[in-house]
Amino acid sequence: MTLASEWTHVTVLRDEAIEALAVKPDGCYVDATYGRGGHARALLARLGPRARLHVLDKDPQAVAHARAWAQDDGRIEVHHVGFAQLADWPTASVDGLLMDLGVSSPQLDDAARGFSFRHDGPLDMRMDNSQGESVAQWLLRAEVSDITRVLRDYGEERFAASIARAIDRHRQSHGAFARTAELAALVARQVKSREPGKDPATRTFQALRIHINGELDELQHALQASLKVLKPGGRLVVIGFHSLEDRMVKRFMQQHARETVDRRAPVTLPRAMPLKLCGRVMPSAVARAQNPRARSAVMRVAERTEAAA
Ligand SMILES: C[S@@+](CC[C@H](N)C(=O)[O-])C[C@H]1O[C@@H](n2cnc3c(N)ncnc32)[C@H](O)[C@@H]1O
Repeated sequence: MTLASEWTHVTVLRDEAIEALAVKPDGCYVDATYGRGGHARALLARLGPRARLHVLDKDPQAVAHARAWAQDDGRIEVHHVGFAQLADWPTASVDGLLMDLGVSSPQLDDAARGFSFRHDGPLDMRMDNSQGESVAQWLLRAEVSDITRVLRDYGEERFAASIARAIDRHRQSHGAFARTAELAALVARQVKSREPGKDPATRTFQALRIHINGELDELQHALQASLKVLKPGGRLVVIGFHSLEDRMVKRFMQQHARETVDRRAPVTLPRAMPLKLCGRVMPSAVARAQNPRARSAVMRVAERTEAAA
């Protein structure tokens, strides 16, 4: 048996993310998604004795891992919080903020966490399993229309309505879904077409995970908070793994970096924007071949300017 602390995570875009943060040796940095510390370790290696590194994660197992790693290093502070809470941090206090979004491999590989349609386990999917409602509990009480909306909006699932109706029939005859395999089998019966190389339950599981963890709301709040906490010249680096989160990051950065010009308005002075775009990076072909998680990764980078948000 593998202990939870032993599950590993292959870090995506590690060196590229550290480059993008343009690390100052005495700076204050936030790794808002510690996972198993792949980025945090590489970042710490660039930092001098007077630097500060804050690491955040919602997941109690990730936080335990971070605490064990950080215990002998007074520069590191570990926070068991969702990254939306950055909104409460002091203004202009951070030189760089990194978010490597989504789930870690240990969360997916440990069947007991209930994220996986491949490894049967209790249907849970909470990143912070010390609080809140599991997917099994939500599916037992949710309206069919809400289940349909979640599967359609967060999974872009064509068969959302028939999966939601099948979930409803199942809970009326059997009660709550206990196991991930039970849900995956039900979804496979409703999904009438097959995408090459993709399990038919992929979209449903992604949608339920995004919903139960409030992932897109948290991301929107954290992006907004970045404008407050970053110092001028500070970098925002975000790695996304699906189109919904990448679209949100792209729109946010563009909205705060590019002035929209009203062509009908009389001449207006150019407005200083709070962000400057620094580009987009994808994993190399080699990295994509070596790590399946890297295939869908997109990293976007922006720099905080002097302008008010
Ligand atoms: C892709 S993994 C990060 C992997 C890490 N960069 C590494 O190299 O080991 C994402 C991590 O972010 C955490 N996470 C996801 N959403 C979060 C949120 N809103 N607030 C804090 N942590 C979050 C997950 O629990 C998971 O541990």
